[in-house]
Amino acid sequence: MTDQTRFLLNESDLPKFWYNINADSPVPPTPVLHPGTLEPVTPDFLSVLFPMDLILQEISTERYIEIPEEVREIYKLYRPTPLIRARRLEKALGTPAHIYYKNEGVSPSGSHKPNTAVAQAFFNKRCGTKAMTTETGAGQWGSALAFACHAFDLDLEVYMVKVSYQQKPYRRNMMEVYGSKVYASPTDRTEYGRSVLAADPDNPGSLGIAISEAVEVAATSNGTKKYGLGSVLNHVLLHQTVIGEETLKQMDMANEYPDVVIGCVGGGSNFAGIAFPFLRENLKNGRRTRLLAVEPTATPSLTKGVYTFDYGDTAKMAPVVKMHTLGHGFIPPSIHAGGLRYHGMAPTLCGLYDAGYIEAVAVKQLSTFEAAIQFAQTEGIIPAPESAHAIRTAIDEALDAKAKGEKRVILFNLSGHGNFDMASYEAYLSGKLVDYEYPAEAIREAMKDLPQVQPA
Ligand SMILES: Cc1ncc(COP(=O)(O)O)c(C=O)c1O
Repeated sequence: MTDQTRFLLNESDLPKFWYNINADSPVPPTPVLHPGTLEPVTPDFLSVLFPMDLILQEISTERYIEIPEEVREIYKLYRPTPLIRARRLEKALGTPAHIYYKNEGVSPSGSHKPNTAVAQAFFNKRCGTKAMTTETGAGQWGSALAFACHAFDLDLEVYMVKVSYQQKPYRRNMMEVYGSKVYASPTDRTEYGRSVLAADPDNPGSLGIAISEAVEVAATSNGTKKYGLGSVLNHVLLHQTVIGEETLKQMDMANEYPDVVIGCVGGGSNFAGIAFPFLRENLKNGRRTRLLAVEPTATPSLTKGVYTFDYGDTAKMAPVVKMHTLGHGFIPPSIHAGGLRYHGMAPTLCGLYDAGYIEAVAVKQLSTFEAAIQFAQTEGIIPAPESAHAIRTAIDEALDAKAKGEKRVILFNLSGHGNFDMASYEAYLSGKLVDYEYPAEAIREAMKDLPQVQPA
């Protein structure tokens, strides 16, 4: 045991491989279906949206996939990221638990998202793509891809959920600084956006709608533009595993091993990124770490959604996958964790959750901000509201350990900083935020509009 606070790796310790859970997962993958025919998709269908290198990663069962040198060069701007023992938070809680966090907020755009953005831009460039399209909720993904596209000399258009565009003007400016074009979705630039605006000119937007717009632009570009997704897909989860691979080495430096690993979940990528390497250790090396995904009670895909086939987007243009879903028509309440507002969840994560390899919990908005403030006041970092969900749960675990007099080792992923989220903090501090639980009735209603997939 040491009294060290920061556990830092050298540049030479940067992982050379991403870890692919599909090599070891005890849960067989479920098919990805064409949104029109509901038959399994072909690489041809996917190649309208994605470059072949990423499609091959999507379906790969190879355990380790090499990180190209060009990607590692850019990772070196911010990786390996620090692992920090939250000693001051532990003291404030009076807990015997040890709390560690991996700080992904040190990346250029402030979150874990560049881990996949840089890889996606690289593989697009290598496959001859000239321009990319994407959506963004909180703006974290859009700014990460904007940074990455500039690094590989690709143009980028970003469809930003309107409510976030209004709440977070500086995120938009950040994307523009990196050289990208940003539009408030729904826009009048796409057929789908125009149809949404015709039905409701004040539509606040949703990730599902923004995805539809970005997909439509790529799909109708005659192959000149490809689409990038910041979460949900296997190749995205794969790229994020650099987080967990580094953390395993850093926990070793601390001479400890986590009893529980915690991450917030929107589409599932930062959680998978930290958790999958620990899941490998559970599956193959007899470890018994609990893996705990945290979502808001306002968008409870895992804890209240139905595990079934659903469309990935609102306009039914993206593939149909089996996941825990609130229904593709989900218009989320305007909670202040824009990045967690997706109606579904990564299918790989859902399969593992359904089979009991992963746990999930939903937390309320107000107690999440309370935890964020406690973390900021003890550890100094203002967390992204998304990441604050993981902090809430880490604190709850630490208090539970205290009540039981247990020494528990708790690890969470600090997926991003909240320096651009001051409007959310302002709303919380001035008492404008309220708790919200997504009604079970709305989920039941949404299930009437699911695709009619025949059992295999
Ligand atoms: C800081 C931060 N954390 C978490 C998320 C949720 O995404 P995911 O579940 O893919 O990690 C987002 C999404 O935008 C984010 O910006």
